Amino acid sequence: MAEELYDFGMVGLGVMGSNLLLNMADHGYGVAGFDLSVDKTKAFEASAKSGQRLKGVNSLKDLINCLKAPRKIMMLVPAGKAVDSVISQIKPLLSKGDILIDGGNSHYTDTQARIEALKDSGIHFMGIGISGGEEGARFGPSIMPGGDKEAYNEVSEILKSIAAKVKGEPCVGYMGKGAAGHYVKMVHNGIEYAIMQLISEAYDILKHGLGLSNKELGSIFKKWDTGEMKSFLIEITGKIFDVKDGDSDKELVDFISDKAGAKGTGKWTSQSGLDLPMPIPSIDTAVMMRNLSSLKDERHEADKLYLTQLNQINTDRRDLENFVREALYFGMVISYAQGLAMLTKASEELQMDIPLEEVVKSWRGGCIIRSGFLDVFADFYKEDPQLRNLLLEEDIATSLKQKLPALQKVISLVAENNYTAPGLMSAFCYFNAYRRKSLPTNLVQAQRDFFGAHTYQRIDREGTFHTIWEPAKA
Ligand code: 3PG
Repeated sequence: MAEELYDFGMVGLGVMGSNLLLNMADHGYGVAGFDLSVDKTKAFEASAKSGQRLKGVNSLKDLINCLKAPRKIMMLVPAGKAVDSVISQIKPLLSKGDILIDGGNSHYTDTQARIEALKDSGIHFMGIGISGGEEGARFGPSIMPGGDKEAYNEVSEILKSIAAKVKGEPCVGYMGKGAAGHYVKMVHNGIEYAIMQLISEAYDILKHGLGLSNKELGSIFKKWDTGEMKSFLIEITGKIFDVKDGDSDKELVDFISDKAGAKGTGKWTSQSGLDLPMPIPSIDTAVMMRNLSSLKDERHEADKLYLTQLNQINTDRRDLENFVREALYFGMVISYAQGLAMLTKASEELQMDIPLEEVVKSWRGGCIIRSGFLDVFADFYKEDPQLRNLLLEEDIATSLKQKLPALQKVISLVAENNYTAPGLMSAFCYFNAYRRKSLPTNLVQAQRDFFGAHTYQRIDREGTFHTIWEPAKA
């Protein structure tokens, strides 16, 4: 009797790849995986629970031959050359209608180019963003699929079954055409960078400004996680302060070098923000701070030169804690607002047709930026799918106006006492610029016209103008 065919194939059985397949197997799907490492393939097969259909294969050909048509194959290999190498090896083995998925963190322009390159073959290529790390992949990630709707419809049942669930709804939805899946995941990561930066600033002010211990800091973040800022990043921050260094009874966080790494998705978000253009200064600032943090030697030199003192902040502890909480809330809303506004613009500019409500709903669970905020935002986008910026929503305006005095207080204390809070400050500046109907950029226009004859528009009449700003030199 012919062997029963499998529902889904994976190329790359690293932790993410094998966990996603195990997740699918838990939901009753037959899954097959290939990895160059025979040991990984064996370990994957050995993790089958009784009754599950898990198969490890030793070649791409065997993988193709054991899958149901149309074949659904995901690659979870390092972004870049490895993806192209798998595509070139697997393409001759695939048939028209098969679906090849890149589940890694590829740059969206690479995904778009791969879609184009495979189009004539009839093979569907999808870029799918997956967030939630190893744990999410195993038990419920947030999944951001983009590409042909036809291909999405073929894989949607499997993706819905393995995704995280919020209020019974799976954290997955069709993110739009072309490379929309990878674009949405990129912006997700940009927002992630911005919120992480803001949390680190809150930590700095509370730790040094109030002299709080790690135990106290942990309790504050745990408390914040029960309120309006409930979110995965606040939750894990609360937990981080409890973890001891294995070699001493001190907390590990104090032994970790302050040079922050980055795999690049935050930088890509900033680059795309500049290209669109759409201002996303909270994300840019977070990328900048990771880069600045890596200038460790220079910072040491500058520290000796400037002898900067981080003063204790002389404000009532409860008051400052509350100010910082409200300022952080403000910054988090601004971070989401910038990322989502960027998606709205990209949806038009890059012709991706990104449905914002679906995006926000898919981020409510499973992913790194999941939070209570997103439940509320989903309703706004449901009411107005064309909403250009969350800041134009009345309920958001009410809450930001209410929290603004706390943000202003924190920023002035930061400035007076030499703290570093560029995330909070840039959220404030963005907000203040965005809500002003007139900005001093009329002067910039005058300067451009002065030195470059770049022309300008007037506020009192239609047309394009150029002025001779000073008499020609003799
Ligand atoms: C990831 O992809 O693991 C994170 O979402 C972002 O990683 P980074 O902080 O290393 O860029």
